[in-house]
Amino acid sequence: MSQQVLGVIAPGKNEPVRVETIVVPDPGPGEAVVKVQACGVCHTDLHYKQGGINDDFPFLLGHEAAGVVEAVGPDVTDVAPGDFVILNWRAVCGRCRSCQRGRPWYCFDTHNARQKMTLVDGTELSPALGIGAFAEKTLVAAGQCTKVDPEVAPAVAGLLGCGVMAGIGAAINTGEVGRGDSVAVIGCGGVGDAAIVGARLAGAARIIAVDIDDRKLATAQKMGATHIVNSRSTDPVEAIRELTGGHGADVVIEAVGRPETYQQAFYARDLAGTVVLVGVPTPEMKLELPLIDVFGRGGSLKSSWYGDCLPSRDFPLLIDLHQQGRIDLGAFVTETIGLGDVEAAFARMHEGDVLRSVVQF
Ligand code: APR
Ligand code: ZN
Ligand code: ZN
Repeated sequence: MSQQVLGVIAPGKNEPVRVETIVVPDPGPGEAVVKVQACGVCHTDLHYKQGGINDDFPFLLGHEAAGVVEAVGPDVTDVAPGDFVILNWRAVCGRCRSCQRGRPWYCFDTHNARQKMTLVDGTELSPALGIGAFAEKTLVAAGQCTKVDPEVAPAVAGLLGCGVMAGIGAAINTGEVGRGDSVAVIGCGGVGDAAIVGARLAGAARIIAVDIDDRKLATAQKMGATHIVNSRSTDPVEAIRELTGGHGADVVIEAVGRPETYQQAFYARDLAGTVVLVGVPTPEMKLELPLIDVFGRGGSLKSSWYGDCLPSRDFPLLIDLHQQGRIDLGAFVTETIGLGDVEAAFARMHEGDVLRSVVQF
């Protein structure tokens, strides 16, 4: 058995995306079908469309989603029909070395749904990040579903499935920002702004936002930055040092993903401070640093994968804090759009005023 619903397909490299009828199989063992309620538009969806991730066209785009479980496979016990869930990129095994050491985000044996969703003609679809949630319904591994408080707005909940979780997690999980710390965030898009929210939540005393765009800096200030630096006109390393009593920041979060900005982060941290790379570089990018500086400055150079998050711990926690009014995840939702508006949302993403466009069903 299967059912037909509408979904947004990227048919081929750089071709415009379009809404098509897709076929969603009934869930098999370990799988769930989720009725999607909201799904954010992320840069990674655009990268899929541009062929920047792999060539497994056609893609079923969308991966920052929340919805209600409609049906589960025979052996599924962790989630049940009717549960309100946030989707994550991959189910973890719980048994490998990484899982056993409490680092499931580096699991060696992650999986997505085993069955494939298809077009009506039988062409198999590649779901973006194993999710494919610009669709009325999607098939995932049951382990990709995390139950959260159903009272929260779906458009807000879905954000935790990718960029916002990556940013908050970069600060609280990877950077381990502590009470009274000074934190600098380089690059204040959705991920950097989420890192600012995370730093504030963790009790940072100073949060310095660095960007090359004044509009981004204005938003960063609303998100909780205490100081802003435009690195087009001001040397960010000097500015961060000045704002931290000449020392540099305890934690610097790089949320651009470029060698120049990583270099700034490296030198803007205090001796023995921490640098967190959460921006995603491209494979050809190289970093050149005097090894003596790596040695002499001490501290830690870390990277943050999906905010080093543990969905079962972090998703319900952050939703609870949002519901209490202690963080405002709603501030990341710039607009809600329909399934047919994804291509236009990609175009707006580059104009700089959109943190997140969210497809609402
Ligand atoms: N210095 C400072 N800021 C910069 C620079 C620079 N040289 N170049 C770009 N920026 C700023 C942009 O102005 C923008 O505000 O970095 C921000 C990047 O934000 P977005 O493009 O909205 O990207 P975002 O979704 O936040 O993701 C950031 O993390 O997940 C990855 O692939 C993603 O690498 C990207 C990064
Ligand atoms: Zn594992
Ligand atoms: Zn994403």
